[in-house]
Amino acid sequence: MKFTLQSTDKNSKARAGELVTAHGTIQTPIFMPVGTAGSVKGVHQHELKQDIQAQIILGNTYHLYLRPGLDVIQAAGGLHKFNGWDKPILTDSGGYQVYSLTEVRKIKEEGVTFRSHIDGSKHLFTPENVMDTQRIIGADIIMAFDECTPYPCDYRYAKRSLDMTHRWLKRCCDRFDNTDPLYGYEQTLFPIVQGSVYRDLREKSAETIASFGRDGNAIGGLSVGEPAEEMYAMTEVVNAILPFDKPRYLMGVGTPINILENIALGIDMFDCVMPTRNARNGMLFTRNGIINIKNKKWEADFSPIDPDSDLHTDLFYSKAYLRHLIHSKELLGAQIATLHNLHFYLWLVQEARTKILEGTFYEWKNKMVKQLGERL
Ligand code: GUN
Repeated sequence: MKFTLQSTDKNSKARAGELVTAHGTIQTPIFMPVGTAGSVKGVHQHELKQDIQAQIILGNTYHLYLRPGLDVIQAAGGLHKFNGWDKPILTDSGGYQVYSLTEVRKIKEEGVTFRSHIDGSKHLFTPENVMDTQRIIGADIIMAFDECTPYPCDYRYAKRSLDMTHRWLKRCCDRFDNTDPLYGYEQTLFPIVQGSVYRDLREKSAETIASFGRDGNAIGGLSVGEPAEEMYAMTEVVNAILPFDKPRYLMGVGTPINILENIALGIDMFDCVMPTRNARNGMLFTRNGIINIKNKKWEADFSPIDPDSDLHTDLFYSKAYLRHLIHSKELLGAQIATLHNLHFYLWLVQEARTKILEGTFYEWKNKMVKQLGERL
């Protein structure tokens, strides 16, 4: 995997780059739509590719391992063959889902035992078997097995957890480096910085992670309930230490404003369920602010969903019709709203990239941040 920085902003830490993977080139900064169980909910692969130009999607080890299971994915020839998405895929390691989705779990040095949220069956995830699982899924970028600490988290717990995440990282790298890809193309492993909201822990983690010298690095444990200012402070601390010439991925972030502020701090890659999950509840992100399409205000508004958009469905359907679909729980409503939000997120990062390349990112970012939080 090769990352090339094409431009850096003079007024901020923002960067534009290109990340080459076996399944194609990703232009950064980029947003990765979340396809938890191998599908971005309600969106066809051809829509992702042709209508909104997604460049990479995310899958979850935890979900895919439980269902359909590794036998099926391996028999298909990997997730790309199974779901028909032939561009890059990144898989999260389960080091987040295990904590957020399972009720019964035990964290030990060996790994995490948990009960499936689907059928209550018992499983063990270790740094080693999570590497093997992601080899089988066949993601281009696979994530280290970590513990994502909650917020708030006391210092002692955060420190102990961080030390274990670092020991797990060594085990992840050993396993990954001593196994081969199953499907003939290169995979790469990104480690994850943790350390809750403690500067010294974040610094120590960033130094440790950087010392592993992997192709790219991620920042986890943020956007878990802390104030946005704390998140930005941690990104800034960590980015000052992570290698400049490698991609930096901020996991699980965030709102459109969070994304622009973190691009300004030097982040290159993002993922978040917000555009897809919130779409299904009728929340639409636009460049002028946020629309709750369920509001009575839109009941008889027959104007296009988003006149600023070049997406067919945004211009073809009206706000009133989408409101009706969402209220009626029609599947089409969720599909239209999801496509709208993903298109908007991808437009936002593409626009940020263009402005970085043009040298006008900082002023543009400040103008956008004022607009994006408005309630329409
Ligand atoms: N997704 C969002 N945050 C995290 C994190 O801290 N770790 C992992 N593995 N995934 C995440």
